[in-house]
Amino acid sequence: MYQDKATTPGGMTRRGLLGVGAGFGAALGFETLAGCSSRPEPAPVPTSGADLAEPAVLTARNGTLEAELRFAMSRTSIAGTTATVGTVNGTTPGPTLRVAPGDRLRLTVVNDLTDPTNLHTHGLHVSPSGVSDNPFVMIEPGGRHTTEITIPDNHPLGLSWYHPHHHGMVADQVFSGIFGALVVEREPATPPHRVLVVSDITITDGTVAAVSHMERMNGREGQAVLVNGQLRPRLSQAAPQDEVWQLVNACVARYLDLRLDGASLAVVGRDSHRYAAPLPTDRIVIPPGGRVEVLVTSAAGRSTLRAQPYDRGRMGGGMMGGRATTTPVDLLDLVVGTGSAPASAAPPIVGAAAPRDLRSAPVATRRTVRVGSPSMMDLSIDGRTFDPARTDLAPRLGTVEEWTWVNASRMSHPMHLHTWPMQVIEAPWLTAGGPPEWRDVVNVPAGGQVTVRIAFEDFDGRTLYHCHILDHEDLGMMATIEVT
Ligand code: C2O
Ligand code: CU
Ligand code: CU
Repeated sequence: MYQDKATTPGGMTRRGLLGVGAGFGAALGFETLAGCSSRPEPAPVPTSGADLAEPAVLTARNGTLEAELRFAMSRTSIAGTTATVGTVNGTTPGPTLRVAPGDRLRLTVVNDLTDPTNLHTHGLHVSPSGVSDNPFVMIEPGGRHTTEITIPDNHPLGLSWYHPHHHGMVADQVFSGIFGALVVEREPATPPHRVLVVSDITITDGTVAAVSHMERMNGREGQAVLVNGQLRPRLSQAAPQDEVWQLVNACVARYLDLRLDGASLAVVGRDSHRYAAPLPTDRIVIPPGGRVEVLVTSAAGRSTLRAQPYDRGRMGGGMMGGRATTTPVDLLDLVVGTGSAPASAAPPIVGAAAPRDLRSAPVATRRTVRVGSPSMMDLSIDGRTFDPARTDLAPRLGTVEEWTWVNASRMSHPMHLHTWPMQVIEAPWLTAGGPPEWRDVVNVPAGGQVTVRIAFEDFDGRTLYHCHILDHEDLGMMATIEVT
């Protein structure tokens, strides 16, 4: 459980807090409500300035990471207050799972919730069948289930995460706080790596706010945006240095459009894959469900990790209520001293072996996958909503397919495929001539399209593809795929 310094005696005074600036709510990470005041505002509690905490870490022993993950609503310190929220083993985020290629995961989910749940290891290229990463498993309230996953020896190094995946409950359970990071790494990881799970939540009357149907249609965005469960924590460094920040976008629907002025950034990896060399940037966009590993080279002084407003479109073009993201949100303060950099800092080992490139691979099948339509309120894939009994696509094992995701709707949809990673071939946001770009969530902008190639190899089985605006997924924007 996280201890927020500012809520303990001797923490930041109210006066000190008000000194933060005029945008009181915004300074705390709360967005201003635009035209929606029916719901009481959560009372902000001073926490700005608390030291960043990181989730507990669970690692493998003798090649197996064995752990119990208890999903429950429990009273915990979150977002600068104390509230009953979703937790894994008592905290949100839950523990970070760290494994190496070749390790096994033996994870027993204990369902202390009042609804069914299950576990998905988002980003792992592992079997989707049986007791492995099987999203069709259902764990009843009071029940338990053990997931057993073998991570292949040649699994890419990178950042994945885990969250519940029981259709109809996913957005509520993730929004409540049930998720955690999952890192595939060869130790030691240098420079120092740090997990930053970004999530959003709305807390009213000491618990997680319920949402309206319209919020579900648009995809809910919480009023508080948190890093590791904290409102705008502070990360202090005695001297300028290199760190790799492992950012997970665990928000149900919010896109993160991040800047960190005052430090230099280079993207090391996206989703479960790393680049052969870091890619310098000054802006990092992470769709819901996506991850980025970024090398942060700090400079003396103070800088703020800030999420800029991101236009992802609205159902009915904004005329149907709901709330647009219009205010920047300050996520974390980086405070760097003027000490001298660690003397013999080892050169960063951040790159990966040049990954396979499907751009020149023979394509067995080309498909178009239509997500939504110009008609309002259409949350379908190829004109249909989710039916677990129906198989929507059936690729052959051992082939490469090319899919073009076509989005004729007025909202962007971040489309996610389980098990088999997608190499992006063409996308409005893709830099021409760049290195291979691997994703498991691709943002398909409103009115746009994205072409990917997928190697259906290593694993057969039946699993899912869906929009990672988790409200859309729960409303049926999901389909089944069976590889044989
Ligand atoms: Cu992150 Cu099908 O999920
Ligand atoms: Cu997934
Ligand atoms: Cu969607």
